[in-house]
Amino acid sequence: MKAAVINQYGQVGDVVTVTEAPTPAVGPRDVLIEARAAGVNPVDYLIVKGFMSPGELAQSFVLGNEVAGVVAAVGAEVTDFALGDEVFARVDPRVGGAFAEYVAVDQSLVAPKPKALSFTEAASLPLVGLTAWQALTEQAKVGPGTKILVHGGAGGVGSVAVQLAKHLGAEVVATASADSVELVRNLGADQVVDYRTEQFDEVLSDLDVVLDTVGGQTQDRSFRVLKPGGTLVSIVPIADVEAKKAEWNVEARAFMMRPHGEQLARLADLVASDELQPLLETTFPLAETTKALQKVERGGARGKTVITIPV
Ligand SMILES: NC(=O)c1ccc[n+]([C@@H]2O[C@H](COP(=O)([O-])OP(=O)(O)OC[C@H]3O[C@@H](n4cnc5c(N)ncnc54)[C@H](OP(=O)(O)O)[C@@H]3O)[C@@H](O)[C@H]2O)c1
Repeated sequence: MKAAVINQYGQVGDVVTVTEAPTPAVGPRDVLIEARAAGVNPVDYLIVKGFMSPGELAQSFVLGNEVAGVVAAVGAEVTDFALGDEVFARVDPRVGGAFAEYVAVDQSLVAPKPKALSFTEAASLPLVGLTAWQALTEQAKVGPGTKILVHGGAGGVGSVAVQLAKHLGAEVVATASADSVELVRNLGADQVVDYRTEQFDEVLSDLDVVLDTVGGQTQDRSFRVLKPGGTLVSIVPIADVEAKKAEWNVEARAFMMRPHGEQLARLADLVASDELQPLLETTFPLAETTKALQKVERGGARGKTVITIPV
């Protein structure tokens, strides 16, 4: 099969190749997905550069962390999926493998693809959708009336978090650059702060929750806008977290999302009830995986970049 692989860590343009690779073996609990599309995330170029290493590269490592496609085979213990089912999944991060014609995924990580979505749209949702869902429901306990600031409201995670926070009944403020303000409002944000022309910590205060997708200065300044007892949840690391919690009298934690088929099925239900729409920016064919990764690495995302995989 064709797959985008690395044999060593390095710059995207130097080490990523699209080549022939062995079709994955199907374990007893695995669903073999004939991929039609695979979402691209910052973690993909971080893996290429060796910053989020899947370990020693003893052999070619097939890139890619999320997929939508059609079930082509199932292991002996698989009960929930059958040949021909349309599915999507955030794959096991240690295994990767989504930028390929076939990927084997443990059945517990797979969910039926939302019928209303194309494969391309569906492939853009698992990683950012599960990240936003776990941040809001598990880490921050967002509910009716919660006042939340979502940073990077037009980005992959932010664009989903804005919609899910509204679904959960929150009052949502988001940051975005001027070009994306209208788009983020249309996703449901009650207020959008253009972070390039306004200092968000000068116009916001007394919030219950901040979801930080940016880090650095943005994260540091986020502590100021929380009310005492509020919560900062970050998907990027927080330096000196204990000292900052004590200084501002707030909760603060960074976390890593985990793949989860049942939660993904719940997100599919929200798509069906029109409460969640993936935000797709652009697509590249599998043969141009390098360009797709370089686009995501350049930043300035307005939604997701997706690799399409011809049958
Ligand atoms: N911990 C986890 O489990 C987990 C999961 C997913 C992602 N992540 C990490 O989270 C980060 C975001 O991921 P993503 O997929 O959402 O990335 P993305 O799609 O590239 O989106 C990032 C967004 O942040 C915006 N932005 C940049 N600087 C900003 C600032 N100073 N203030 C407000 N917004 C700003 C960008 O918009 P502009 O065009 O306005 O600059 C862009 O829309 C990445 O570092 C990724 O590795 C972690």
